[in-house]
Amino acid sequence: MVCCAAIMTTTQASVDGELAAATAQRRTFAIISHPDAGKTTLTEKLLLYSGMIRTAGMVRGRKGGKVTASDWMGMEQERGISITASAMQFHYKDAVINLLDTPGHQDFSEDTYRTLTAADSAIMVIDAAKGVEAQTRKLFAVCRLRRIPVLTLVNKLDLPGRPPLDLMTEVEQALDIQASAINWPVGSGSEFAGIVTRADGRVHLFSRTAPGGAAKVGVETVPLGELARSGRVSADVLAQVRHDLELLDIAGNPFSRERFLAGEVTPVFFASALTNFGVEHFLDAFVALAPSPGARPADAEDGRELTVDPIETPFSAYVFKLQANMNPKHRDSTAFLRICSGRFERDMVVKHHRLNREVRLARPHSMVAQARSTVEEAFPGDIIGIINPGLFAIGDTISLTGGFNFKPLPQFQPELFARIRPTDVGKRKAFDKGLSQMAQEGTVQIMRSLNDLESLVAAVGRLQFDVLQYRLRHEYRVETVLDQLPYTCSAWLDGDPATFKPPSASMIVKDQRNRVVVLFGDQLMKTIARDRNPDHLLRDMG
Ligand code: G4P
Repeated sequence: MVCCAAIMTTTQASVDGELAAATAQRRTFAIISHPDAGKTTLTEKLLLYSGMIRTAGMVRGRKGGKVTASDWMGMEQERGISITASAMQFHYKDAVINLLDTPGHQDFSEDTYRTLTAADSAIMVIDAAKGVEAQTRKLFAVCRLRRIPVLTLVNKLDLPGRPPLDLMTEVEQALDIQASAINWPVGSGSEFAGIVTRADGRVHLFSRTAPGGAAKVGVETVPLGELARSGRVSADVLAQVRHDLELLDIAGNPFSRERFLAGEVTPVFFASALTNFGVEHFLDAFVALAPSPGARPADAEDGRELTVDPIETPFSAYVFKLQANMNPKHRDSTAFLRICSGRFERDMVVKHHRLNREVRLARPHSMVAQARSTVEEAFPGDIIGIINPGLFAIGDTISLTGGFNFKPLPQFQPELFARIRPTDVGKRKAFDKGLSQMAQEGTVQIMRSLNDLESLVAAVGRLQFDVLQYRLRHEYRVETVLDQLPYTCSAWLDGDPATFKPPSASMIVKDQRNRVVVLFGDQLMKTIARDRNPDHLLRDMG
């Protein structure tokens, strides 16, 4: 463990006490879901129940569209919510919540993966009618890889959906994790009346107080034995709830916070984010269960593994995202840092481990649309943006003490490859500059043909290509032509490329670090290539 063995004065002790308290309050998380499952709606309800907004409905644009940057800016000015382009911070009861933004596109990108590395927990939102969908699976896999504990919220109980027990089974089978119901729905669709909290056997019956869940719901709480007398549920619903609860008591998975934190079990909650039914219970449970920032693994300079304690280790952070040209008035890039330990203060001078030099963090900010607001201090779990005059790369560690690096961020094996060129050859310089900036930010990976004449780009999702072309057009004024290539996987080649016998449907290129890469039409071609070239080593990328 990296720690200061300084003799504590009284002041030091109270400063550390404040740091420990601030760290214990933090919950830094991301919502993972397939598009349309209800991520935006849940975010809005978080703000409603945290008192940040009084009327739900503000998160969407007037025409029912998603929130725009300027909506957020207006909201921040009105309510003092701190929202960065990458994370939003607000208070819920005693907790300080950092919600990381994982763009909810149909397609996904490496950016989303990297953002997840900055989260200490995740909420998986599932549509009760659709169950576990494709993107949820992929994002869940990343959480598992990073040992991020996941809470499950089955949403849209007010609409006709699948039986809750079926959904529990699907979560277990599709994601290979135990599911343990913390609450259970009373009815569903138009009969969805409330939830039973299993720990105390109490039923919370909800009543709508405003259309569309614009205000908090009314709640009446009765013991399960008195549910029949409430007159709020039909005999069928009552029988179903009793049956399900008995089954869960006999055959359900046990739940413990330790097993949840170890990634062995996901606590499951049922709710309707739109009508607010079950939302408050879920949030209370989230704050109680989700971990505050803990120790993070790192590599010491001498190669030893160590853990960085959020309180004992002085300030440290790593860059998980870079974004250039966020503000047309300031043509610079912003590095987003996740604080892992210690207290951050504006103007701090820290060690930049990769460059082996000191840097002053002079203009830390949270980013709101086009406006920047300066951050004076921040704590473990918080996200800050720093103007990046080319100093920071993804994965860089900075700290007060130096001597270690956080584990490298996962790189994902690209599945899509394309040739790209500027339509106007006169724009070559701007094209090269833009391309290398986008590669540095991790939008795409750049590859080149062996003769250096062609530029190739590689990505995990199609969206990354669209973003690349859009940004080259708008930020570098370069129109491009992009031809997708018929390859779906790749491997690094160790050995002489001249003696390598490539299978059909393959191509040999170089990556950014001049390593030789073979692109294959499919996995079978990669296997054939391995068989055919026993003297060469084909290493998987990623
Ligand atoms: P996303 O961010 O995960 O993509 O999903 P989002 O919250 O935008 O929700 C997708 C649609 O599902 C929205 O409807 C939203 O109102 C609806 N929805 C979310 N949660 C619930 C719920 O608990 N019950 C019901 N009945 N609907 C829910 P939309 O028609 O696409 O948008 P809008 O016109 O309502 O804004």
